[in-house]
Amino acid sequence: MTIEKSRATRSAPSLDDARTRHQRARAVGLSPDYWYPVLRSRDLRAGKVREVQFQGSSLAVYRGSDDKVRVLENRCAHRQLKLSDGKVDGCALRCMYHGWAHDGSGHISDVPHDLFGRAIPRTKIGSFPATERYGLVWIFPGAPELALERSVPDLVELEPGNGWTHVVNSFVFDCHHSVLMENVCDFSHAYLHRKFAPFGPDAKLTRLERETDRVLLAYQTKVAGGRVSSLFLNGPEVDTQAIEMAYEYPYQRTDTGGKILEWCFPVPVNDTTTLAFFIFAFAPNTFRFPLLPIKMPSRLADGLTRIGNVAGIRRVLEQDVRAVALEQSAYEQHYAKPVPDLNPAVREIQDLMIDKWQPAQLDVRPAHLAVDNCSPHPQR
Ligand code: FES
Ligand SMILES: [Fe+2]
Repeated sequence: MTIEKSRATRSAPSLDDARTRHQRARAVGLSPDYWYPVLRSRDLRAGKVREVQFQGSSLAVYRGSDDKVRVLENRCAHRQLKLSDGKVDGCALRCMYHGWAHDGSGHISDVPHDLFGRAIPRTKIGSFPATERYGLVWIFPGAPELALERSVPDLVELEPGNGWTHVVNSFVFDCHHSVLMENVCDFSHAYLHRKFAPFGPDAKLTRLERETDRVLLAYQTKVAGGRVSSLFLNGPEVDTQAIEMAYEYPYQRTDTGGKILEWCFPVPVNDTTTLAFFIFAFAPNTFRFPLLPIKMPSRLADGLTRIGNVAGIRRVLEQDVRAVALEQSAYEQHYAKPVPDLNPAVREIQDLMIDKWQPAQLDVRPAHLAVDNCSPHPQR
C-alpha cells in the first residue's frame, strides 16, 4: 500500500545523487521498524484525534472512549479526506464529510446515510500498532511482524517507586534527523552552550566503538558545570567528570556517573523536520542544598528538577534548535562544499545511519490489525 506523502521541497542531493558520506547521511531516512514516540499521552485525551507524520506519511492517532490509543492511515476509505479532520465516535474515527466511521483495524464500521441497496464497502485503510509508556504514545510504523519483537526501550529507572525523578521535553527541529543526531553526540559544540556549560570546551573523546546497530562513545569532560547546576549537584555522590553515550539506532542515550541519564528519541517527520523527545532522569541523592550537608527530600528534588528543566535543560536545547535549523538551511545552499569534521564520532554515526537504511523503508507499512476490540469501559 502506498501512502501519499507530503515531501518537503529541498535542493540538496537525493540518496542516488549523493557523492559523499555527509550527503548520504543527509539523504537517508530512519528505519520504520522501531517504536517511535509521537505524542505525550496527556496531549491526547479520550475522544480526541491528532495528526502526526512519519517520514512524510500522515497518520491519524486517536484515543477512543475506552481510553485506548489507535493509529490509522490518515485518509478515509471513501474519498481520502484526512480522518484527523473528523471526529472520534466511541472507538471509531468518523470522516467529517459523509461521516463514514473506521474502526481501529481500518474497516468501515458504519455509513450514516442510505446505502442505495448496496452493502457497506469492504475497502479498508491501514492501521498501526500503538502503545503508551513513560507518558508517551509510541507507534510502530514498520513491518508489523517486528512490532512484538522490538519493544519500546526499557527505561527501568523511570518505573514508579524507584526514587528517580525525571522530566520529558519535546522539540521540533527544522533539520534532517542526522543533523540532530550529530548535534547530540558530538560535544565539539561546547561554544554554542558556553553560557550554560552542560559539557566543557575541553571534552575529550575517550571511547568510540562501532557495534552492529550502535556506536558507543565516552567523553571526559565536566558535565553540568554551569554555575547554578554545579551548585545543586551532590558532588560526592555524582561523578560529573565523564559521560558515556550510545547511539543505539535509532535512539541516543547518555549516562553521567550512573546518576544522570538522558535519552533522545528522534522521529523523522520529513526530510527537513525532526520531532524529538528527550527524557532526563536523576537518581536519588543527585541533588543537595547548596553549601549545606543535607540530603534533599525527593519531593523537593522533583520540584528542583522541574525548575532546572525550564531554567537550564530547555534553554540549552533551544540553543540547539536554533543551531541545527541554521545548519540545515546552510546545507541546502552549500551541500557541495567540503565539511572538514574533526570529531571521528560523526563519521561513525553517519556510517551507522547509512548502513541501516534501505530506501524501500520510506513507506510506512500498515499492520492491518485484524480485529479491533472495543471495550465500552475505560482501561484506566
Ligand atoms: S469523503 Fe470521507 S466519508 Fe466521504
Ligand atoms: Fe547541544
